[in-house]
Amino acid sequence: MRITLKINLLTTAWMLFILILINIVVFILFMRTTVNMEKDMAFQKAGDIIKNIRTNDTPDQIKSELKDNLTEDSYIRILQPDGRILYEVTNEKELVKKVKGKFVKTQESERKLLVIEGEEKQVLIVRVPIPNGPLLNGSLEIGEELTGLESRKDILLWILGVSTVLAAILSLLSGRWLSNIIMRPISNMINTMEDIERSGVPKKISLHNDSKDELQTLANTFNRMIDRLEDNFEKQSQFVSDASHELKTPLTVIKSYANLLRRHGLEDKEMADEALQAIHSEATRIQKMTETFLDVASLEKEVELDMDVVNLVTLCQAILKQLKEVYKREITLHYEQSPLLIMADELKIKQVIIILLDNAMKYSNEKIDVFLEKNDMNAIFRVKDYGIGIPGDEIENIFERFYRVDKARSRETGGSGLGLHIAKRIMKLHKGEIKIKSKEGEGTEVELLLPASLEIV
Ligand SMILES: Nc1ncnc2c1ncn2[C@@H]1O[C@H](COP(=O)(O)OP(=O)(O)OP(=O)(O)O)[C@@H](O)[C@H]1O
Ligand SMILES: [Mg+2]
Repeated sequence: MRITLKINLLTTAWMLFILILINIVVFILFMRTTVNMEKDMAFQKAGDIIKNIRTNDTPDQIKSELKDNLTEDSYIRILQPDGRILYEVTNEKELVKKVKGKFVKTQESERKLLVIEGEEKQVLIVRVPIPNGPLLNGSLEIGEELTGLESRKDILLWILGVSTVLAAILSLLSGRWLSNIIMRPISNMINTMEDIERSGVPKKISLHNDSKDELQTLANTFNRMIDRLEDNFEKQSQFVSDASHELKTPLTVIKSYANLLRRHGLEDKEMADEALQAIHSEATRIQKMTETFLDVASLEKEVELDMDVVNLVTLCQAILKQLKEVYKREITLHYEQSPLLIMADELKIKQVIIILLDNAMKYSNEKIDVFLEKNDMNAIFRVKDYGIGIPGDEIENIFERFYRVDKARSRETGGSGLGLHIAKRIMKLHKGEIKIKSKEGEGTEVELLLPASLEIV
């Protein structure tokens, strides 16, 4: 069953239940007060009659007094203590036949349902004792059909019935209108989701008003989720196309050298050597590249860092020692205090430092300086080279994936343009910062700001 229909039926059923309950209460109260009023009036009448009968009244006078007080479909009797009827006047013979007279010493009233002329009728009987006197010391009995009550009861029942039906119809209509208002954003969402499922393309829910209710929040959250999905989707396909593009060049080189070897065989030894050399170096490049791709891919996910206290000074000393041995370059480490402690994932920070030093070595030929400092909040790693530098308008791009300032030159140096992108992601994971200052032809300075470990503050 659709939720709109469910809401609609439930609200209507609930409203009907409440209405019927109220109607029953209204009906009972109405009947009770009306009958009480009739009873009071009958007692009042009885009292008046008794007052008006005088001791020296003749039977005819008494009868006419009684007759004067007859209303429609009623009777009035005076009974003696032995139960005998002394006087009786009526305008409804059947009624008199059906109700037996009764002498009372204290006043009482009674309501009866009698069949008179084939119809069920409510009858009210009141009995009042007549105070002792020389002539009369019986009791007075008035019986009357409650015809007014019957007709008023019918009108009330009709009004209550009609208003209940009307309320049910109104409730059904307004319930439908209300549930439509509530359900519109949900239906909107369902349609969008079905669309996404059918086409496989992420799509956002269109928001018509800014109501700030729960449904709007739900739609907003959904849209934000779609935004992120789209972003990831785009990043992923961009990465795949960039990566395959990067792999294409070395593979073309390998293929053309392999063709060359196939055509000329190994006869021309010099050429064969050159071809093998090229194939080997391009294959190594592909190997390195795929390793870097894997690095980037793993960093794109929310990786967990293996945080620990790291002494930046000893870490840099170890890295520099290795690099100096392999590359035979002059790299000097400057620091004022040791240890310089940070909270970091040691392997990842080592990777960032190597990326920066690798760049400094690739894009300069002179000495390289590394500075370790600290301020209130951060430990600072700074690497300074005196090489070719980066043009000012390129600095903002160099953190992008696969971005290289001079494509031709980078090919010579074997870069894939992923180093700084990886470095930036790792710094972001550490809630640190990476800043670059450079002047073309003069050199480059890259600074890492790393949140210091509490132990050094
Ligand atoms: N110290 C530097 N001096 C001059 N140019 C630099 C320096 N560091 C980076 N660049 C420029 O920024 C570009 C991007 O650097 P990045 O480290 O991301 O890639 P790469 O060094 O080309 O390749 P990879 O590091 O992936 O092997 C480089 O191609 C280079 O043009
Ligand atoms: Mg690099």
